[in-house]
Amino acid sequence: MNKALRKVIIAGNWKMNKTPSEAKALLSEIIPLVKDADCEVVACVPYVDLAVAVETVKGSNIKIGAENAHWAESGAFTGEISTGMLKEIGVDYVVIGHSERRQYFGETDATVNLRTKAVLAAGMTPIVCVGELKEEREAKITEEIVGKQLKLDFAGISADNMKNIVIAYEPVWAIGTGLTATPAQAEEVCAFIRETLAKMYSKDVADSVTIQYGGSMNDTNAAELLSKEDVDGGLIGGASLVSSKFSAIVSAANA
Ligand code: PGA
Repeated sequence: MNKALRKVIIAGNWKMNKTPSEAKALLSEIIPLVKDADCEVVACVPYVDLAVAVETVKGSNIKIGAENAHWAESGAFTGEISTGMLKEIGVDYVVIGHSERRQYFGETDATVNLRTKAVLAAGMTPIVCVGELKEEREAKITEEIVGKQLKLDFAGISADNMKNIVIAYEPVWAIGTGLTATPAQAEEVCAFIRETLAKMYSKDVADSVTIQYGGSMNDTNAAELLSKEDVDGGLIGGASLVSSKFSAIVSAANA
């Protein structure tokens, strides 16, 4: 009913794939395929690909995102990248709190909160990932887990700022496994996220936040997932590395 109020966003999450020259080639293939999209199209790419990616998509309707950002402006944080560095390159989106960062790199809700605030302060859009593990779904505590992530990840973030955040619901058991959540499962949790935002903020905020689904979304299952009332787009890993598959998902969002 309120889907028209929100921006539909199809974002690729390339993860640790593609060198700069490969990034240029892939984006060059994607540009003509998505030029008539009536949704937002984003490619989130490895740090070293960002500059060439921004240059390659100039004049097109594709926006570029990073896959993480540190919360400090600068300092002794070897191996980290600041929001100022990303902003200067021309990055518009930053993925925060992806489950791979949470699982393998010690990301916590507290650091997700700090990173999200830093991305907002720099004038970029965070795509904040939440989602339950397989054993959490089996124990029927999905809502408890996702609800807790939302409360901690967005602690201290104002209603106005919340409207500038994109949430990606990514059930961890569906990422890179080929096991997609059914459209009904995706809708159930995306609707729960929206209800939670309405309680934490207001219906106005809840209605305006883009909530993506992510986890083995591809060219064959995208249309049905995206037809759901509370699924406002997708965060796409594997299928975003193949231009024909990614552009087919963008077309599914247009339909
Ligand atoms: P996948 O990854 O599409 O390869 O499952 C999604 C993601 O991790 O964002």
